[in-house]
Formats: sequence, structure tokens, C-alpha cells
Amino acid sequence: MEPFALDALERVTTRPTKDYETLTLTPLTPVLGAEVTGLDLSRELTCEQRREVRRAFLEHHVLVFRDQHLTPTAHKRFAAEFGPLHRVVLPAEGADPHILEISADASSRAVAGNGWHADGTAESEPSLGSMLYLIRTPEVGSGGDTLFANMHLAYDMLSPRMKEFLEGLTAVHDGAQPWLSQGMAPPEGYEAPRTEHPVVVLHPETGRRLLFVNAPYTAHITQLSAAESRSVLDMLYQHIAGTPLLHCRVRWEPHTLVFWDNRCVQHHAVWDYYPHSRYGQRVAIDGTRPQPCAPLPDTELV
Ligand code: SIN
Repeated sequence: MEPFALDALERVTTRPTKDYETLTLTPLTPVLGAEVTGLDLSRELTCEQRREVRRAFLEHHVLVFRDQHLTPTAHKRFAAEFGPLHRVVLPAEGADPHILEISADASSRAVAGNGWHADGTAESEPSLGSMLYLIRTPEVGSGGDTLFANMHLAYDMLSPRMKEFLEGLTAVHDGAQPWLSQGMAPPEGYEAPRTEHPVVVLHPETGRRLLFVNAPYTAHITQLSAAESRSVLDMLYQHIAGTPLLHCRVRWEPHTLVFWDNRCVQHHAVWDYYPHSRYGQRVAIDGTRPQPCAPLPDTELV
């Protein structure tokens, strides 16, 4: 590993952290994800439990809660602890506008999220995070895992010169691109959003820098030529997908709820279980507009 990448990893893994009083945390990896035990999400949380879940969320970015038995109302109530619920884009007729069904079976020709991405980044205010509650996992084998990647560390592990190059750049995120890139037209009635966001942004709660480009939505870096933009984006996607150190893997069991921070992780729902089925419901929380960073101090450029 490059020395600056090792330094970044050391900084993240040696951060001091306080113990938790009302829940138990078991990290999935030293840099991303934790299983949380000791909470029943079907009941309203106490103030202290809520405070600790929020702290764990900001420290680990992906929280896994097993053996939860949630009605859609309880699922939405837990999500609403973190902010207003995000509306589903193009909800099915008569469906709950805040619950997105994630479903795959033998008749599926594609599944949601089968590739590295963050949700809805073409919106001016992409979601804060999502809570996916899986009720059915594939009948055979152990497929259908979801991978997550830490975008703080993806940024931190770049060379100082690359960080300097990316600072101040912006990229257009295009909501039509996921369809156009597969030779399809966006669904009828979908007004695809298009928004320019900084390539490096600050997490709105922790103030940490992170890389904010993703393959399905990011169309091009505004300040570069088309060819330059393609090369830089491909290099960054290769860095994100090809650096296992940035990743954690969630193996689902029925009645698992996973809450991820859409502002600083990407995810990839692995579709390796065809023709078997998998079903869950996702509730997302409103986010805010991604904010650019102040210029890097000279000391970080040596
Ligand atoms: C998604 O939100 O992209 C789907 C995640 C999953 O099915 O694991």
C-alpha cells in the first residue's frame, strides 16, 4: 500500500471512541459497518438509545440490526427519528409514497442497485440515508448480499496531488443516465433531475471530506474535457470498486434492517441468486444539498 494510503487508514482506525451504554456494537470491519444488538426497533427508542444510534451511525456509517419484527408503520417511525421521510420517485399506484419495495424473483430481468452507486445523487438534495428491511432472502445458497464502500476513506487514500486536483471541481449528476446508459428511455412521467455537485464534499454532520461521484449518476466533470472527465471518473470508480479495504459486506437474514449513510457510502446489491427471490422494503430520509470544502491547507499537499 502507498504510504499516504496507509497513513489515511491508520488515522481512521486509531480514532478514539467512547463506549456505548444502551446498545452493543460489533464492527463489521475496522473502517465500515457495525452490527447493533440490544435494541427492539418495533418499540419507540428512549432518548439515550436514539442518541447512541445516531452516534454509531456517524462513526460506522452502516448499521445492521438483526431479528427485528417491524410493521411498515414501525419501520417508518424508526426512520422518522432521523428526519422527514424521503418520497419514493415514481411510486406504484396506491403504494405508500415512502416505502420502496425491493423485489427480485425468477421473472426479474434487472434488480435495483446491482452496481456501485449512491441513491438519487442527481437530486439537489439526495437522501440522508436509507433503511432497508429484508423480509425474504434467497431460498438457496447465501447470495443477495449488499456491499458498502466508505467514501471518506476512498478520498483519504488518494495521493495529496490527486486530492488537490479534485478540490474545487464539480460534476453534473443526471437522473436519466441510469436508463440511457442501458439503451433505455427513462420511465414515462419521470422528470429526470440534473444537478451539479462538488466532486469532494463535506459530510454535513461530521465535517469530514468525502468523494462524491458515482457511476450510474455522475455524467461528467464540468471543468474537464469529455475525454479527461471519462478518464478521471473511471480511475475513481476503479479505486472505489477495486479497493476491498474500503468495503464491508452485509449478509442478510430475514428480518434484518440495515441503515446506511447515503451521504458517505456507496452500495452494491449483488444479484448472484437468480432465479431465486429476495424481498424487502426501503424507507429513506430527506438529506441536504452536498457542500463543497474549503481549500486544503498547504501542509496536506506535501
Ligand atoms: C438499493 O437500495 O440500491 C438496493 C439495496 C439492496 O437491495 O440491498
